[in-house]
Amino acid sequence: MGTLISGGSVVNADGSRFADVLIEGEKIVQVKNKIPAEQHTVIDARDLLVMPGGIDVHTHLDMPFGGTVSADDYTTGTQAAVVGGTTTLIDFALQTQGRTLREALQTWKKKSDGKACIDFSLHMAVTDLGAGDGSHGLREMEEMVAEGITSFKLFMAYPGVLMIDDALMFRVMQKAAELNALCCIHAENGSAIDIVVAQMIAEGKTAPHYHASSRSPKAEAEATHRAIALADMAGAAVYIVHLSNAYALDDLKHMQKRGARALAETCIQYLVLSIEDQMPGKSWDEAKYVFTPPLRERWHQEPLWRALADGSLSVVSTDHCPFRFADQKALGRDNFTKIPNGGPGVENRMQIMWHFGVNSGRLTKERFVELCCTAPARIFGMEKTKGSIKEGLDADILLWDPKVKYTISATTQRMATDYSMFEGWTVEGNAAKVLSRGELVVDNVAQPGQFLGTTGRGRFVRREANAGGLA
Ligand code: URP
Ligand code: ZN
Ligand code: ZN
Repeated sequence: MGTLISGGSVVNADGSRFADVLIEGEKIVQVKNKIPAEQHTVIDARDLLVMPGGIDVHTHLDMPFGGTVSADDYTTGTQAAVVGGTTTLIDFALQTQGRTLREALQTWKKKSDGKACIDFSLHMAVTDLGAGDGSHGLREMEEMVAEGITSFKLFMAYPGVLMIDDALMFRVMQKAAELNALCCIHAENGSAIDIVVAQMIAEGKTAPHYHASSRSPKAEAEATHRAIALADMAGAAVYIVHLSNAYALDDLKHMQKRGARALAETCIQYLVLSIEDQMPGKSWDEAKYVFTPPLRERWHQEPLWRALADGSLSVVSTDHCPFRFADQKALGRDNFTKIPNGGPGVENRMQIMWHFGVNSGRLTKERFVELCCTAPARIFGMEKTKGSIKEGLDADILLWDPKVKYTISATTQRMATDYSMFEGWTVEGNAAKVLSRGELVVDNVAQPGQFLGTTGRGRFVRREANAGGLA
């Protein structure tokens, strides 16, 4: 006896059709028109779309940053994700300089053990290969890949904390190439930005919007080009995280045309928020939108949408890095450099992408699935278990109501922040029900916003090393 999702329209990245979906245990066992109900528990999916659960490959849960710790831990963060239709996360383990990758992994396993409510994996941020020739760190990279951590994050920003120089970046890229692993890059020229920041502070420019002016689109474009060029020289596949503007996009496309194995994501905030609308330089409230890269002028949004449609950009993530406004963003009340960088979004990604992508005609529903579910699984080595509605895959299933209206608000969200970046916005389209490995864990119709599963049920996902699917 299984669970039968009956009467819905199944949407995969490669096409849509009316079909029933039969689940046995944790797996999808049949996708076919008119499967007999027999003894199965039936979920009525008439008027709903049956899609793979979302995969958000860029989150920061329980992460020490900017003098504080991100507000969502593995319990609140994964619950917020799944209430919004996302069934898998890839979070970041950060190596502290002077410490090992193993220690970073142990620290993040402790944060997630017994707390994650949906499946998750980890990228490993490398900040240090150890003394001498770095052979210890390079050996640890091999161990990470053997344990299913097949992507390494490299920061070109945040000098003195996470930033590494080109030499270290190149060495890690060479090793990643050997291991078939993927290099994920935060691409901003941190050294140039730090000079501009110091000059602004010296001039008394301390309000939140100066954070955005200090980190120009050109600083991101320069680093994007450099990262891809170095990866190309090293023979590595590279994935640019949170690409935010049209200049960086031009550099990405240029290098893709030249044959570099380069992929990139953008995030929901860069597609629908802007300096003009959220950060005009008028109030302290704008600290809610201090994240890195910063918001850009509105004209950058359409080129990003076009790149999502034409395939130059491959994924939409959130860079969910939540801080409360009242007591965490407040750390930078008198100085924007002290405002913890990051914003909350993991709960809203599917809603925002559906409303502003599909409803507006910018994306087909199949492209929505590709960007939010299927490409993340393929690029990050999980396509054998996640990212599509196919026989044999995990039954991570999103029943999507494309017609329901939903108003986003901090008062009703699951994320642990005291604000929403999209406060009061009404979107059309929301998760009706969500299954994670065959278990109904969200029913937004009967019990809106509630997580119905057991805390700690989420499992660590070991991923394959496949060079971003570009091997
Ligand atoms: O502002 C952000 N994005 N905070 C999280 C760290 C990062 O750079 O992704
Ligand atoms: Zn970043
Ligand atoms: Zn991030």
